[in-house]
Amino acid sequence: MPIDLMAGTTALGAATESIQEPTILLFDSGLGGLTVFEQVRRARPDARYLYVADDAAFPYGRLPEPILIERVIAVMERLIGKHAPDLVVVACNTASTLVLPSLRERFTSSFVGVVPPIKPAAAATRSSLISLLATPGTVARAYTHDLIATYASACNVTLVGAPNLANFAEAELAGSAVDDEAVSREIAGCFVTADDGRRTDVVCLACTHYPLLLPRFELLAPWPVTWIDPAPAIAKRVLHLLGASPPEPDRMSKPVRAIFTGGEGVSTALRHSLASRGLREVAIEAMPLSGIAS
Ligand code: DGL
Repeated sequence: MPIDLMAGTTALGAATESIQEPTILLFDSGLGGLTVFEQVRRARPDARYLYVADDAAFPYGRLPEPILIERVIAVMERLIGKHAPDLVVVACNTASTLVLPSLRERFTSSFVGVVPPIKPAAAATRSSLISLLATPGTVARAYTHDLIATYASACNVTLVGAPNLANFAEAELAGSAVDDEAVSREIAGCFVTADDGRRTDVVCLACTHYPLLLPRFELLAPWPVTWIDPAPAIAKRVLHLLGASPPEPDRMSKPVRAIFTGGEGVSTALRHSLASRGLREVAIEAMPLSGIAS
């Protein structure tokens, strides 16, 4: 059975008492982790949040595994040293399915990861035809294949590694519309019809960028399916580890900072988009990919 990558570790067990105003660091290759941030913040509105986009190394989906491990550890070393979070949420399937065991070995901090929602997909399907829409990296992971063997062996799982969707989600957040045809091409492989007429009825959104494009997917899908976003389950996991929010009137008022490791794409339009999601401070902490993981 694959190890539970979503579980917290060493520093935190299940919370018996709520940690007051914890510092939660959410980390992704880019802005996909915002879909997780939204759910976690709803669960713990009193927390201090730091959102880190490792945009200097984006997209992770194309990085060879040893490079990605080295990169995430190097970036985490810097971030944990500087910000001392109570909890780190690795809001990226491409990183979580590979790097969490190394992070837990290297750091005493608690980590929660995001992994493809195969288990709920297997529970939800009626046709037994599931598709997993992810980055090429996540689709290739041994961890993903173990999850399928453990939780969906009775289903027919189609793996769709989308080379461009994470980029499309970033573009849309920054205010550049991506045309329907390009999005359709990326999701087309998810829709399968079996010889006996059964059709795919559940699609796992196994990259945190993809829920940003969900309204487009729903519109462009050749037939309606259930799209499974793991973010609400991650928020539950965070609550399990940190405990519930104390009731206060003005709980969401803390400014949320977005940190970029590159910052090339930080335009005025993107700043507006971030501000509308509650991230009003933007900082660049430069960590070029070449300097760390060449
Ligand atoms: N948001 C990341 C994930 O959940 C992937 C995007 C990338 O390729 O960097 O997998």
